Order: sequence, then structure tokens, then C-alpha cells
Amino acid sequence: MTAYYLTTPIYYANDVPHIGHAYTTIAADAIARYQRLLGRDVFLLTGTDEHGVNIERIAAQRGLTTQQQVDGVTAAFHDLWAQLDITYDGFIRTTDPAHRHAVLELWRRLQASGDLYRDVYEGQYCPRCEAYYQADQLLGQDCPVHHLRCDEVSEENWFFRLSRYQGELERLVRETDFVQPAARRNEVLGALTEGLRDFSASRRLVRWGIPVPDSDDEVIYVWVDALANYLTGVGFPHDLATFERYWPADLHLVGKEIIRFHCLYWPALLLSAGLPVPRQVFAHGWLTKDRHKISKTTGNTVDPAALVAEFGSDAVRYYFLRAIAFGQDGDYTRQALVARYNAELANDFGNLVQRATALAIRNSAASSLDAELAAPELDLRAQAAVLADHVAGAFEHLALDEAVAAIGDFVGQANRYAQLTAPWELARDGATARLAVVLDHLVEAARLAAWYYVPIIPRAAAEAHQRLAGSLPEPGQGYFGALRRGAVVSGPPLFPRVLTE
Ligand code: MSP
Repeated sequence: MTAYYLTTPIYYANDVPHIGHAYTTIAADAIARYQRLLGRDVFLLTGTDEHGVNIERIAAQRGLTTQQQVDGVTAAFHDLWAQLDITYDGFIRTTDPAHRHAVLELWRRLQASGDLYRDVYEGQYCPRCEAYYQADQLLGQDCPVHHLRCDEVSEENWFFRLSRYQGELERLVRETDFVQPAARRNEVLGALTEGLRDFSASRRLVRWGIPVPDSDDEVIYVWVDALANYLTGVGFPHDLATFERYWPADLHLVGKEIIRFHCLYWPALLLSAGLPVPRQVFAHGWLTKDRHKISKTTGNTVDPAALVAEFGSDAVRYYFLRAIAFGQDGDYTRQALVARYNAELANDFGNLVQRATALAIRNSAASSLDAELAAPELDLRAQAAVLADHVAGAFEHLALDEAVAAIGDFVGQANRYAQLTAPWELARDGATARLAVVLDHLVEAARLAAWYYVPIIPRAAAEAHQRLAGSLPEPGQGYFGALRRGAVVSGPPLFPRVLTE
């Protein structure tokens, strides 16, 4: 079985999760579930980023110890992932002892390569980004991401020789699909054209972090610490069998504001450490509300747990995956969520399953998938083949919204097939041979839609598949006729309609 290793960013343990964090994780889970449907040996890693000056300060403001602070937030992330049906295989916390070992091993390798040297850092530091800024990158004196005043830092610390990797990084970004989508790749190429500068890889006067070996007043820079999570999560260096099974990662899914770290710092650190670089970093856009980035700092957060409580996890997953072009920014509105829920889930998919099960239960004509087919069946089968191609192509390019749209199109075609063949009339007229053919096609089409919906709306998809096929969806059943109509059962509506305010 081919392995497929994908990761989300590890989220700062400074505050409870908001919908922006949920968005990345839902997308990662959809990809992981799709790869599992293809029969691959998938490892999905997520976790929390628990060190750094920002967390140190927030804990102090709240009168908590740093450990209490990060424990509370990490529990909230675990809870939310359970509510959203996220099937992660690993959850890493950067305060785990195993992670400390991995970071120290990485550090040792960087040192052995001669890529760490002492120098003085003088400049601006944003504690929210945990990032150093050049004067020309600031908005006045403020951080360009958070619009908050930066700290003036002046200290001697360890520098990492990023500039040494300029040529190799240029080749990686130019000649492979390492950075996706194209707009982000251009941004990274722009940064390369400006020329890479070495960066400061340790911090003095910050206590909450992994201490630099042989130094009593320095911790390893939180981004070096955080990026290494992708190694620790699959066993580096304590379980090399697992590590070799999954590394290099197939995909790091990130938001667009952290590509510099993932597309420049990270591959350079790996090259320096003598480790293979990941296959791809894909950066999605931002969820906005009234066109402003949803964030704690802006104060316009949306609580994902409240949305799940109101609409169910499938509906929340569906909305974000369908409504936002993956890779671009997208504005969240409650009205759009409700409208899509009613039209596409309750009406289109919910009704298809309801109709197919009700008709099949009422009319027990024996299955005859091999009988003579008329034009509507031939069309439906051709449309099923197109569905398979579209979904595969869309996932290949991580056009997640297009994959969902393709399934929705097929649901529409299956509903039209029912209209066109009118099995209720065939039953009334006693046309049993034809009725058997039509029921077979209708039930199999609904089952196929359910199978393809597994990564998107896993609860409803599994329930629909069970009702229609008598079994849960399994890898390798993504083509028309993979299963034959057997005993079909009914159940309550998969998506009860919700009222529009
Ligand atoms: N801790 C770092 C990442 C380290 S990875 C080695 C970090 N954490 S974060 O808590 O700020 O989370 C950032 C990630 O959350 C973004 O990259 C993105 O995936 C997601 N999002 C946060 N706000 C978002 C939106 N408004 N919209 C979409 N995704 C957003 O950066």
C-alpha cells in the first residue's frame, strides 16, 4: 500500500480555535479520507504549537502558568476535531518530550553542517507571527499581518545560513510542484529574486521554549521548533521504521500567510540536516467576514463548535469545502451556509437518497443490472464515469470545491434520471422488468454519490451507503455497478430542512 503523509499547520496554543483553524483541518481531513478511499496508507498529522514569547505573555496576562495555558487550549482543539469528525492519525504538541528530542537532533545536524553561527540580531519582531521583519516590510512600525506594534529586539544569538540554499531552493520552486497554487509559487519566487538572508534561529530572554544545547539563556526559535513537528509526528528520530514509511511528506497544507516558513526556511533546514524535502506545500486562502480576515486580532471570529451544534458537522464541512474556491480567499456568510444546506444537502442529496430507498422498498422487483439498457441508463452510466474522472482530477490538483461540485452535478443527474424514467409509473403499470432496471440504476447512482461524498460529509455518506447497499463504503467501490442492489432500508431525512432567517 502506498503511503500518503499530510499535515496541517500546528496551531498556536494561545487561544481556542476559530473557524479559520477549522477550515484548514476540514480540508486536510477531506484529502486524507479521499486518499483512504483510494486504498492508500494515510497518515494525517495535526497538533498545537505551544512555545514562544506570545504564549508566555498570554499566560502571564491570564494569571496562568504556561503549562496550564497550553493544556487548556490543546483540550479545546481535541474537542473541536472530534465534533468535526476529523480523522487524524497523530496529534503533536511541541511540549512533548519526543518532540524536544527531534528538535535537538535537528539542531545537532544543522550545527554539524556548519550552518549555525553567532551574530547580533537587531530589528523588529512580531510576537503574534513569531517572525522577524525588515524595516521595509512593516506598515509604519506595525506588523503587516496583525497591524500591531512590533518589539524592538537587539541580541546576540544563533543564525541559520539560509543564504547558502538560495540555488537549491530556486531549483526546487522553479522546477517542481513544490509550491502550489501558482499565485503562491510566484510569491515565493519573488522572495527568492530579492535574495535570501540568514535568519536568527534562537532567542534570548524567552524562557518558554526548547533550550539551546550548552546555553543557559537561549531557546530555539519557535519556528524552527514548530516546523520540526512534521518530523517528530512520524517518528523522527525515535522510530525510524515509521519515519521511513511516511517521510518525505506528500503534502503540507497551510494558510497563505505562512508560506515563507514552509517554502523557504523548512526545505533549507531539511537540506542542511541531510533529510529529503516534502513533495508539496499547498497554501489555501483566508476565510473572511465582510472581506476582513477572520482572526482573533481582528475580533471577528466565528465559533465552529456553535455552527456544528446548530447545523451538524457534515453541513459545516460541506459549506466550507463547496463554497470557497480552494486556494483563494472566501467570504463566510451564514445566509450562504443555510442556502446551500437547504438546496444542495436537504433537497438534492437528501431527497435522492430518500426517493431511491422509498421506491426500492415499495417495489421489490428483483435486481437485473445486466438487463437491456435504454438511453437514460446509458447516459447515467456515462455521467458516472465523468464523475469519477472529475473527482480524481480535482483532488489531484486539490481543487476541493470542484470535486464537491462534480458530486453535486451527478446528484442532479441522478434526480433527473428518476424524473425521466418515472419508476412510480412503471410500478403502477406493472412493467416489472423495466422497473427492476430503473430501480437498480437509481439505487446504484445514489450509492455512488454517497461513496464519493465520504470525504466531504462522512456521517451522511456512511448512513446513505448503509441504507442503499447494506454496508459501509470501502475503497475500490467508486465506479458504477461496484455493488448490486440488495435489501434497501429507509430512515429519517439525512438533512432536515432548516429555516432561513
Ligand atoms: N503556529 C503557526 C504554524 C506553525 S506550522 C509549523 C501558526 N499558527 S496559527 O494558530 O496562527 O494558525 C495558522 C493557520 O490557521 C493558518 O496557516 C491557516 O491554516 C489557519 N487559519 C487561521 N486563520 C485563518 C483564516 N481566517 N482563514 C483560513 N485559515 C486560517 O501560524
